[in-house]
Amino acid sequence: MSIDDLSPDDREALLAERREEYKSFWPGPHGRRVRYAIEMFPLLQADKPRGRTLIPATRDMRLRKVVETFGKYFKQELGFDSVPFAAQRSRLYNNDPTVEVVLFDAQRVTATFPIAAGAAGLSIQDGERWLDWFWIHPFERGKGLADKAWADLEELYGKQFRIQPPLSPAMERFLTHHAVAPERWRS
Ligand SMILES: CC(C)(COP(=O)(O)OP(=O)(O)OC[C@H]1O[C@@H](n2cnc3c(N)ncnc32)[C@H](O)[C@@H]1OP(=O)(O)O)[C@@H](O)C(=O)NCCC(=O)NCCS
Repeated sequence: MSIDDLSPDDREALLAERREEYKSFWPGPHGRRVRYAIEMFPLLQADKPRGRTLIPATRDMRLRKVVETFGKYFKQELGFDSVPFAAQRSRLYNNDPTVEVVLFDAQRVTATFPIAAGAAGLSIQDGERWLDWFWIHPFERGKGLADKAWADLEELYGKQFRIQPPLSPAMERFLTHHAVAPERWRS
């Protein structure tokens, strides 16, 4: 039976039940936002990367926190068990000194300061550089930001770094389109 067919009292009772469920499902004042929202972040304290999109973020705690948030989106979107990066260094988690993280400046919205719209994490394993994860805000996908980000990554880290599996279908297509050598991403 549709909610529209209920008597006013029954409809009110059903709505009250739904409100209760909703409150406990996404607790806290920002619960719904934490669960649903995918944000970009204005970086008022960072330099605009002129002619580029990449912003080094490893050594700045404010930027590291933005990277961590994008890492959470990445985990949620692709269904991974853990977040790929933690801003706070700890003995238990992500204490690899070779880990470097970067942000990407949006191109659909622009300002005199950067607006973070994507991130990537890299590390060194067995002497080889790896791209561990790469994420672009959905509003910036299919619009060229990933292409620019890729060009910047290859400029900064060289064209040899390998790409950590498992790869999403979108990433496989992306690497194929960019003619990235298969030995860099196919195991
Ligand atoms: C992977 C990613 C960085 C590529 O950026 P992008 O802006 O989407 O790149 P492109 O526009 O070049 O699109 C890549 C290709 O994947 C396709 N694609 C996009 N989403 C897809 C999906 N969910 N499944 C399959 N293919 C998909 C696109 O259609 C495009 O192929 P086409 O040009 O033949 O149509 C971006 O999609 C992203 O951040 N995805 C979520 C995180 C992710 O998958 N990271 C990689 C983890 S290994």
